[in-house]
Amino acid sequence: MNKPFFDSHSHVVTKVRKGLAESLSGTDLIRQFDGLHPIEIRSAFIAANRLDLVEAVFGSISVNLPYLHEITREDNPILSFWPFTRATALKLAKLTAGFSSIGLLGAPTLFNLLKQERPRGDVFLFDRDDYLFRQETFPSFVKCDVAGGLPDMFNASFEVIIGDPPWYLDDYAAWLRTARRLVKEGGIVIFVLFPEGVRETARDERKAILSLASELFTECSVEENIVDYETPSFEQVQMVVNGIKPVNWRRAGLVTGRVGLRERMEASSTVRQSGEWTERRMGSGRIFIKADPAQTAGQFLETADATSRFLSSPSRRNPGRLRANVMSSRGHGLSCADPARLVEIIDNMKSPSDIEAIDGTMEGQSRNLLREVVFELWPRFIQVC
Ligand SMILES: C[S@@+](CC[C@H](N)C(=O)[O-])C[C@H]1O[C@@H](n2cnc3c(N)ncnc32)[C@H](O)[C@@H]1O
Repeated sequence: MNKPFFDSHSHVVTKVRKGLAESLSGTDLIRQFDGLHPIEIRSAFIAANRLDLVEAVFGSISVNLPYLHEITREDNPILSFWPFTRATALKLAKLTAGFSSIGLLGAPTLFNLLKQERPRGDVFLFDRDDYLFRQETFPSFVKCDVAGGLPDMFNASFEVIIGDPPWYLDDYAAWLRTARRLVKEGGIVIFVLFPEGVRETARDERKAILSLASELFTECSVEENIVDYETPSFEQVQMVVNGIKPVNWRRAGLVTGRVGLRERMEASSTVRQSGEWTERRMGSGRIFIKADPAQTAGQFLETADATSRFLSSPSRRNPGRLRANVMSSRGHGLSCADPARLVEIIDNMKSPSDIEAIDGTMEGQSRNLLREVVFELWPRFIQVC
C-alpha cells in the first residue's frame, strides 16, 4: 500500500523541523507525512544518515528487541483489514443517526457498534471475511465479494452506505458502483478516502476516484484526516521488527455523495483477483495460502522477502508481497513450492509440537522456517527477536 520514499531530503527535514517546533509527538510527526509508512520514513532517515531525525521522530516510540508483544485480534492482510479506532467508529456511527436503513461495505468494526445500538437489524454488513461474524449467528452479515457478488435483493435497499475498501483504485471503482446499486434514491454514500502520501500514484488515483464519485453521485464533498485506524496485527509485528512501537498512526479522509434522480447505473461486473487464498487457523493465528505454487530455489518453503520472514510492508505492490503465496495475520510472507502439501501439513497439526513429526520428510531450511512461523502464530503473546 505504501510508496517508496521519494520526498527530497530538505523537504523532509523542513517538515520534521516544523513539527518539532510545534512539539508534536512521535505519532503526529509521522502523520505529517500524509500516509507514508513509518517503516519507510525510518529507512529513509537511516539511508540519508540522519540518525538525529530517527531519534527525533522515533525516539519516544522505539522498542528494544527482543520484545514481548500481545496480539488481541488476528487481522487479515489478504483483504487489507485496517480497523477503525473506537473513536472513529463512534464518529461514523453518529453520521448514520436519523437513517433507518444502513448498508456497510467492508466495515465490520462499525457493524459491531451499530448492531448494539440498533438491535432491530436495519444494519447490514457486506464483507468477504467472516472472522469476526458468522452469517448463521448474524443474519444481517452477508459474506460476499463487494466488487461483484451481491444478491440483487439488496438493490436500492439502503438510505446510507458506508464503505471502506482496500486502498486500491480497482477496488474503489467496483465498490463505488456497488454502493450506487445498493443505495435508495436520495440516499447518501460515504467512503473512506486514502491520503495522498501512501504511494507515488496516490494523488492521481484519488483524482480518478473523485471523478468516478461525481459521475455516480451528486453533491460530492471530501473531508480530510478525520478517520483514524488501529494498526492491524500483521503490521504490528512488522513495526516491532523494525524497532517501532506499533502506535496507531494511519488516518484518512471521507468522501460523501448523494444519489440524485439520475438513471440507476448497472453494478460493476468487474472480474478481479487471480488466485484464491485458503485460510487456516494455526493456534491463535491465521495463515493464508494461495493455491498457485511459488518459484523457489528448490526449497519447499522460503522467505518471500530477501532478508526476513516478515514482510516489510503488506502493500500489494511490495516485491516481497508479490512473491508471497503464504501470509499470516502476524505479518509473515513466505514462498511455498507446494501449497497443497502445506495445507495438508497444517490440517494434520493438533499442537505446535506436531511440527517435529515432519522431520526427515522436508529439507532442513524449510522445516526450520515452518517451525519458526508455527511457534510465532500459535500463542497469543509472541516474543519478537
Ligand atoms: C480497509 S478494511 C476496512 C475495515 C474497517 N475500517 C473497519 O474497521 O470495520 C477493508 C475491509 O473490506 C473487506 N474486504 C476486502 N476486500 C473485499 C471484497 N472484495 N469484498 C468484500 N469485502 C472485502 C475486508 O475483509 C475488510 O473488512
